[in-house]
Amino acid sequence: MTTGSLVIVGTGIQYGTHITAQAERFIRAADKVLYVIPGPWAEAWMQSLNVTAEPLIPLYDNNKRRLDTYGQMVERIMTAVRQGLHVCAVFYGHPGVFVLPSHAVIKQAHQEGFPAFMCPGVSAEDCLFADLGVDPAVSGCQSFEATDFLVRHRRYDPYSSLVIWQIGVIGHLGKTATKEKRGIRMLAEVLAADYGRDHEVIVYEAAPHPDYISRIEPIPLYQLPEARLMSISTLYVPPKGEKPVDEERMTTLGLTVDDIIKEW
Ligand SMILES: C[S@@+](CC[C@H](N)C(=O)[O-])C[C@H]1O[C@@H](n2cnc3c(N)ncnc32)[C@H](O)[C@@H]1O
Repeated sequence: MTTGSLVIVGTGIQYGTHITAQAERFIRAADKVLYVIPGPWAEAWMQSLNVTAEPLIPLYDNNKRRLDTYGQMVERIMTAVRQGLHVCAVFYGHPGVFVLPSHAVIKQAHQEGFPAFMCPGVSAEDCLFADLGVDPAVSGCQSFEATDFLVRHRRYDPYSSLVIWQIGVIGHLGKTATKEKRGIRMLAEVLAADYGRDHEVIVYEAAPHPDYISRIEPIPLYQLPEARLMSISTLYVPPKGEKPVDEERMTTLGLTVDDIIKEW
């Protein structure tokens, strides 16, 4: 009897253009494809790659906690694997970046003795680096989920780039963006305490389709609560300036300030 297996792949952010050759090959070769890709073009696209493709998006329900939906996704994927099928589960972006069920289902498959692995993909943060011209080598880059950032008082360095994900669903356990402003107001206040209320931040949405353009909206922090936020909005907070170097460490490493500036 053949044993089931699982591969998790991502489509990238932009429909049809970001998918890797590796991901496409696994989708085409699978006995069963299950996918979590938003957008009206997802169904026809996945069907054109593999006729077994079945959407898991209908499992979402705004009256249900996202965690419960994720549990159901894991179960649906595992049911196909347990049937002895070679299953390909497809998520948008990078399938392992801010995607709880992809990691959970790999863990579950391993626990049950099935081969399972993940392939990388193009994430929203990859698009942000390209669209905003940000290189994380220059000042470092910190990434946080918005609600987690607030409720756990995550520590960060304001002299380093900061990316905050899921700003459209702060404190919201369902799926769609919330009109409730208290989360985004809290985020703006927390950031203003370190950066000042006039610090310019960027509301960013990478174009999900080649016919669209990315939304790049610079605004001062004090206006953030008024910004139009979607479930795909991400916040980029540029560093508040250049961090002074530790001269003792520079000397120990045989470096001068000039070396550092020339290097970057
Ligand atoms: C559940 S996560 C999925 C991330 C995805 N797996 C990836 O690799 O980018 C959803 C969050 O990703 C970010 N995101 C998704 N699509 C985006 C886009 N087109 N532009 C900017 N950020 C996006 C937003 O912060 C959104 O709230």
